[in-house]
Amino acid sequence: MQQTQITAYLAPKGFVNQAAAELKGVQAVYGRLVIAGGPPQTSCWAQNTWLEPRTLRIRSITDGAKALRDIQRNWIMYSFRWHRRSTLIQEKLPHVSARPLRFPEPVPQSPLGSWTLLAPDLVLASARCSSVFPHGEVRFVESKQGPPCRAYLKLWEVFSRIQKMPAPGDACLDAGSSPGGWTWVLQQLGASVLAVDRADPATEIMRLPGVTFRKGSAFSILPDQDNRFDWIFCDVACYPEKLLDWVSIWQNSGKCRNFVCTVKFQGDSHYGVINKFAALPHTAFLHLSHNKHELTWISLNVSSYN
Ligand SMILES: C[S@@+](CC[C@H](N)C(=O)[O-])C[C@H]1O[C@@H](n2cnc3c(N)ncnc32)[C@H](O)[C@@H]1O
Repeated sequence: MQQTQITAYLAPKGFVNQAAAELKGVQAVYGRLVIAGGPPQTSCWAQNTWLEPRTLRIRSITDGAKALRDIQRNWIMYSFRWHRRSTLIQEKLPHVSARPLRFPEPVPQSPLGSWTLLAPDLVLASARCSSVFPHGEVRFVESKQGPPCRAYLKLWEVFSRIQKMPAPGDACLDAGSSPGGWTWVLQQLGASVLAVDRADPATEIMRLPGVTFRKGSAFSILPDQDNRFDWIFCDVACYPEKLLDWVSIWQNSGKCRNFVCTVKFQGDSHYGVINKFAALPHTAFLHLSHNKHELTWISLNVSSYN
């Protein structure tokens, strides 16, 4: 029997309401998994989109595992209920190695399916998902020495997911740079970095070759001062509308083509700005595993994102 097309969206922990609110045709919510009718929709908040989910009736744990194995090798379980039964099924499936990435190594290529139990005898399974990472969560072997804070993980994740990053010699503006995690990442890639913040960076970051620090408001750095950058990064805690105005000026000037900016929210009063960012050219939103109540807005000189 033909199944009606649905798509499932796994929200990050704590953000299921945001994910459900942005989707059209929501039919059900299972834990963090939001089911909506029709083909995949653009979703800012979803961490992993189950692109072609289908239901499978199962008679037993062994039968469930076989049904999944018959479709493909690699599966990751999402369980919101019937945890024990789900775990027993997963244990009968081939082991999936989900070792942390060593940045900047390439991301895994093998498809990873996701499945859940909707009822003890009903599996929802999607062989194709938007992310090759389990539940869309990207983990890294962390650097204990170099960066002064853990914010560097956000940039590692962005670069791993979009498979694009500054090349050696690229000119980067790091707006809201202190204490210097992002600056550290960019400097390690061989970029030259203008780091701007109202607060001082960690001293060891200031001393790195290729890094220039300027104290003050990042939003005073404008293209009409004859500035030109290959990349603009912004992690300033500010009203999203202020960030939108500033990046719009830069985009319209044509003096920077690549942007990676954190859009930070307080409460839900600023979500309307998401559509305004989305209207800017070559735009995508990611909710990173390392994002909190924020989205990462990306505009690149290319048109596709992973
Ligand atoms: C979340 S922290 C940035 C962390 C940084 N990305 C890192 O990796 O270390 C936000 C920074 O924005 C800075 N900030 C806030 N308003 C600013 C403004 N108008 N101009 C420049 N920096 C600002 C704060 O001083 C703070 O250091």
